[in-house]
Amino acid sequence: MAAKGRIPQYFIDDLLSRVDIVDVINRRVPLKKTGKNYSARCPFHEEKTPSFSVNPDKQFYYCFGCGAGGNAVGFIMDYERQDFPNAVENLAHIAGLEVPREDLSPQQQVKQERRKTIYDLMEQVSAYYQKQLRSDPQSQRAIDYLKRRGLSGRIARDFNIGFAPPGWDNLLKTFGDTDEHKQQLIDAGMLIEKEDGKLYDRFRDRIMFPIRDNRGRVIAFGGRVLGDDKPKYLNSPETDIFHKSKELYGLYQARQNNRHLEQLLVVEGYMDVVALAQHGIMTGIATLGTASNTEHLRTAFRYASELIFCFDGDAAGRKAAERALENALPVMEDGRRIRFLFLPEGDDPDSVVNRDGAAGFQKMLANATPLERYFFESLHDQTDPNTLEGKARLSKLALPNLQLLPNGVFRQLMLDSLAERTGLSRQSVDQLLNETPAAVSEDVVAAAPEQRRSSTLKLAAKLPGSRRDPLLFALAMLLFNPRGAATGPANIANLEDSPAAALLNNTIALLRKRPDSSTAMLLGHWYGQPEYEVMTEALKTIELLGAELNDEKAETAFFDTLAHLDAQRSTQTLRNHVDQLRISNEVDKPTSANYAELSEADKQQLLTIQQLLKQKHRL
Ligand code: UTP
Ligand code: MN
Repeated sequence: MAAKGRIPQYFIDDLLSRVDIVDVINRRVPLKKTGKNYSARCPFHEEKTPSFSVNPDKQFYYCFGCGAGGNAVGFIMDYERQDFPNAVENLAHIAGLEVPREDLSPQQQVKQERRKTIYDLMEQVSAYYQKQLRSDPQSQRAIDYLKRRGLSGRIARDFNIGFAPPGWDNLLKTFGDTDEHKQQLIDAGMLIEKEDGKLYDRFRDRIMFPIRDNRGRVIAFGGRVLGDDKPKYLNSPETDIFHKSKELYGLYQARQNNRHLEQLLVVEGYMDVVALAQHGIMTGIATLGTASNTEHLRTAFRYASELIFCFDGDAAGRKAAERALENALPVMEDGRRIRFLFLPEGDDPDSVVNRDGAAGFQKMLANATPLERYFFESLHDQTDPNTLEGKARLSKLALPNLQLLPNGVFRQLMLDSLAERTGLSRQSVDQLLNETPAAVSEDVVAAAPEQRRSSTLKLAAKLPGSRRDPLLFALAMLLFNPRGAATGPANIANLEDSPAAALLNNTIALLRKRPDSSTAMLLGHWYGQPEYEVMTEALKTIELLGAELNDEKAETAFFDTLAHLDAQRSTQTLRNHVDQLRISNEVDKPTSANYAELSEADKQQLLTIQQLLKQKHRL
């Protein structure tokens, strides 16, 4: 069947400006007026007190509980489980409009279908690998391997574990019958192209773990060798639909199993997730061979209020725990809990659960260390809190990190605890805290304050510390008042490589093309794409600011934040300069060996840089 023509963008924009989201939602979920907004108990997750709100001015909804958010079309899609064209038809019907369709050029058609096709293809590939696990002549080895690792057929099925048989062209032959299909396989990361243009299968003779996104779509694979060959695991490369540093293996299955998760276990590997599930512990999630970042934690906290990290008991595990702690502090909003479990050396959750059973593992879990205890204990390892000097050092080490905590009861308790441990009064702790910048330089308020106009400063100060990432803040301001982009730069160069940075630039580019876009239209543009989660984060920022925010403030704040990002970049340039001069990172103590080698001019320059940096940031 030929695809129905595309719905033209102008029509969607028109539709969004004609329907009222309050009306659309109220027909399905009765809303109550609360101040400027409307609220209700969220239809997308179970809750007792309403955290779902609808913003009539900007025509979007957002839920503080589960992070769902979007425009009227998105609401219909999620609430009525309709695809995009049907949701548009549905709304158009209410508005009494006929939906026009546009004929697409073949190229446009290809592009539009591409993403969808990749998802379909990945699902088929996953089914193919599963079938090979059952029926390939070579698959007995794979089955034996899985059995040896204690997995039943049922769990293998639950996680859709499959087998990529040996050979260079199994997938190529099965799915790559036309040039177009070959290209799709390349785009999906399943084929590799050699320099001479020849194609071959990426995954060969491996146990295949499909990686699913939040919505359950297969977006990538991890493949394990059957023996001790290297690399042990091969993962899909980054593709249009797979962004490795965002995904959590096992999260979809955990949510399928229980919609009201209380706790999630953050483990290291695919096999840990699956082995735990085999023993009835269906709450394991794993990053994909990378350390867990703040975004991972935010995602996980959207579904459960407690995270327990499981680390190896060795040095690498300690190191990983330190990193996890740093990333965790900014997301520790009240009501959230984090604990750290250090396993015996040489163990991982897979080996523990296979040896000691679920009960043995649960027993260890019960003794996991709460974040607050881990935080202070790891500092005690670096200082002796029994001496005066040690106490001073303790507060010096702790404060930049405590500064990262969002405002709230937890933050206050941690400060109380610091006061108690150092013998300082709470007042002194607060005063020291005021003089201490946050540990990372990302903080909009702490960094380069002379750049910030006071209204923006006040605005940002209303947000918990974790939400002051300047990129996300700029994006939120732009989303609130898209007109800001019209007079701004076409592109913000040299941003860090992050989803928020990419989205900020893409949004600016989009607004250059469609300068009249509203908040709701922008939301519609990214709906269903990986970027969308960042957009809902920006919605949260907007909702947190509530009545504090208006169009004028948003525009000013947008430009202020761009200026701030600029200042941050020049600081970075200075830092690189210092590195080039091969001077150690301590501002006051250049390594004397290197220092002696410098020319007089370089010494002079270094001094200037150091003074500048001292004023601006801690190095
Ligand atoms: P581990 O080596 O701890 O994996 O790596 P594991 O899950 O315990 O594997 P088994 O028990 O030996 O089968 C943890 C994670 O790091 C990534 C994978 O995501 C793996 O699950 N990794 C590891 C790779 O991507 N490549 C590798 O070569 C090794
Ligand atoms: Mn393991």
